[in-house]
Amino acid sequence: MAAALVQGASRGIGRAMVKELAASGRFSRVFAACRRPDEVADWADSAPQHVTVVPLRIDLDDDGSIEAASKEVEASGTPLSVLINAAGLLHDESRGIAPERKLEDLQLASLQRVFQVNTFGPMLMARHFSPLLVASKQPAVFASISARVGSIGDCAMGGWYSYRASKAAQNMFTKALSIELLRRSRGQCAAIGLHPGTVRTGLSAPFAANVPAGKLFEPDFAAARLLRVVHDAMAAPKDRTGRVYDYNGDVIEW
Ligand SMILES: NC(=O)c1ccc[n+]([C@@H]2O[C@H](COP(=O)([O-])OP(=O)(O)OC[C@H]3O[C@@H](n4cnc5c(N)ncnc54)[C@H](OP(=O)(O)O)[C@@H]3O)[C@@H](O)[C@H]2O)c1
Repeated sequence: MAAALVQGASRGIGRAMVKELAASGRFSRVFAACRRPDEVADWADSAPQHVTVVPLRIDLDDDGSIEAASKEVEASGTPLSVLINAAGLLHDESRGIAPERKLEDLQLASLQRVFQVNTFGPMLMARHFSPLLVASKQPAVFASISARVGSIGDCAMGGWYSYRASKAAQNMFTKALSIELLRRSRGQCAAIGLHPGTVRTGLSAPFAANVPAGKLFEPDFAAARLLRVVHDAMAAPKDRTGRVYDYNGDVIEW
């Protein structure tokens, strides 16, 4: 059996994905990677008997933690076939980060922070974990949760500069990575982006009141839909790689 890993597993969609992956019965080991693995340590108790949920420390501000985590996953001996980057940042009141409405709101520290998590995070994850996905010698998927607001073609409203730009850059990285991964894996490993819809989490909380009825998804629903997209990509890596898909499996233009 294979292993799956979710980075950004402590809350929101990432947390729901760990539970869904563990319940699916497709993986014998699910790595739940986050900044404070102690907080997810008791998840192992609620997993089905044949599934091991393994807390793993990854802090996207600390490249060394990503490298150390990749060595831990490799040492487990279970081939890694799914990796999902779920961590994301839109606002952080403790650091004065909020989506910008106008140019005057742009601040270097906020820009760096948002790119660190949304763009550099998945890039560093690919740097350290791609060799494991390729070495699995079976269909594999590297997925990053993006956002429709990162689509250049879809940008009618403007604003939200740092979040939009960080996700657009993430999408470009996914596209470029897809070419190298497909070559290195001899057609077995896909790299895709995922749009979850608007989901009831801490990230969307300040904006949830503006979401039309029926359009605010629960994390479990979004996780199940996105994992269906991931499994579709595993079934046809060459056909599905290098694109961003929404929760229905429809392609979102760049
Ligand atoms: N919710 C939505 O409506 C929505 C819509 C479109 C796209 N998305 C995307 O979906 C993904 C998941 O978002 P969510 O709604 O589940 O957000 P969330 O509930 O706010 O969770 C964010 C996650 O990111 C982690 N994180 C933040 N900074 C980190 C860092 N430096 N190192 C490691 N982990 C870090 C958090 O870990 P800590 O617990 O340690 O802070 C947490 O696990 C994001 O990529 C987001 O952009 C969400």
